[in-house]
Amino acid sequence: MAKVHVFDHPLIQHKLTYIRDKRTGSKEFRELVEEVAMLMAYEVTRDLPLEEAEVETPVGPAKTKVLAGKKLGVVPILRAGLGMVNGVLKLIPAAKVGHIGLYRDPETLQPVEYYCKLPTDVPERDLIVIDPMLATGGSAAAAITFLKEKGAKNIKLMCLIAAPEGIRTVQEAHPDVDIYAAAVDEKLNDHGYIVPGLGDAGDRLFGTK
Ligand code: URA
Repeated sequence: MAKVHVFDHPLIQHKLTYIRDKRTGSKEFRELVEEVAMLMAYEVTRDLPLEEAEVETPVGPAKTKVLAGKKLGVVPILRAGLGMVNGVLKLIPAAKVGHIGLYRDPETLQPVEYYCKLPTDVPERDLIVIDPMLATGGSAAAAITFLKEKGAKNIKLMCLIAAPEGIRTVQEAHPDVDIYAAAVDEKLNDHGYIVPGLGDAGDRLFGTK
């Protein structure tokens, strides 16, 4: 079964408090989400392979390490996922970015892909799927299924806040995909919002309602 990694880093928890606060406006919300995404990316990339390197410091030769060149991809689920992309790219600027858009079919209630643009070499990349609010988990599970159909083998899921229902859905559908979240909240309400959550992440990022 895939692991759930919850970040207890003080900076992440502090910033998440202000992200949750309904008084926080869109500009500050966007900045905080980007900052938390960057801090989370630090941990999500902890297992990247390194290789030996050598450089000359002003004092002499140093045996060091550099990233072994593992190809990475970041795949935000539209639209709220966009808010975390730049934070992740600040730490891993060489990552390629794919986008997946999904809507829920009102009759079947199944997620339907309406937009998908991915790097051409998906099978060679380790992918970080970004879905800030893992609520029912339906969109994240469907996006991961699409990516696997395109050949993706190593996928991690990065969320700001996860609900137990969403974690269960993803773990059942994709037991190979680790979930990274800044918090796991209590439950979903009748409208599918995470409680206490932060409200609608897309609306708060983009100032819509
Ligand atoms: N999507 C959101 O933006 N917020 C939630 O609480 C659940 C889904």
